[in-house]
Amino acid sequence: MSVIMVVSLETVLPMRLDYFLAHSAGLTRKEAKKLISGGAVTVADEAKPKANLQLRPDQVVMLHGEVVQLPGHRYLMLHKPVDVVCSTDDPEHRTVLDLLPAVLRAQVHPAGRLDRDTTGLVLLTSDGQWSHRLTSPNHACGKCYRVTCADPVSDEDLQALADGILLRGEDSPTLPALAERVNTHTLRLTITEGRYHQVKRMLAARGNKVVGLHREQIGDIVLDADLAPGEFRALTEEEVAGI
Ligand code: URA
Repeated sequence: MSVIMVVSLETVLPMRLDYFLAHSAGLTRKEAKKLISGGAVTVADEAKPKANLQLRPDQVVMLHGEVVQLPGHRYLMLHKPVDVVCSTDDPEHRTVLDLLPAVLRAQVHPAGRLDRDTTGLVLLTSDGQWSHRLTSPNHACGKCYRVTCADPVSDEDLQALADGILLRGEDSPTLPALAERVNTHTLRLTITEGRYHQVKRMLAARGNKVVGLHREQIGDIVLDADLAPGEFRALTEEEVAGI
């Protein structure tokens, strides 16, 4: 069984610079203090950092010009707003990484994608194996969406979505899904695949149009109701282990 070490900078910082450096670089506090006083350590926004400086989560620490990080992987949930893209780099739009403090941005990638106009739960991590489990078709991790449609959703639509739908240009139907009505124009749809624009195309195949799409849950991880669009928090150990 693999042991997952969760370190969230938001929960461990503020932390003294000498303590942070000792933990990150495997040094004694004395060695760390010597490097700091000798000028080998730089901290964003601090002209001459002292050993007792209390680090903020957005401050990048460098030792001999290299970024210093606490050991262990990062696991975050983000409430993605509209007009933000799920990639690490985009010349035209804000990315999900732009919503994180610099020190975290350098380390994580989004595990799976949402369209630019889709809102809701995005998971970010530095752990490639964990994100593979989330996105691999073999693991069939359920993703639950609240789907708002232009036209009313019929019982036949719900049954067809649940049974599987042959999408335009594809030769195998979507896997069975869970489809429940929320109100006349809104449903909750849980799918285990991640085909291109899957939810929008499933509804399009029923002659409807998605006008609002919001991801509420991935596996057992539910988007935290306390997170406003654009906000993030570290996952708990239970949330990480549940994937
Ligand atoms: N399906 C879509 O069509 N869009 C998303 O962003 C996610 C799932």
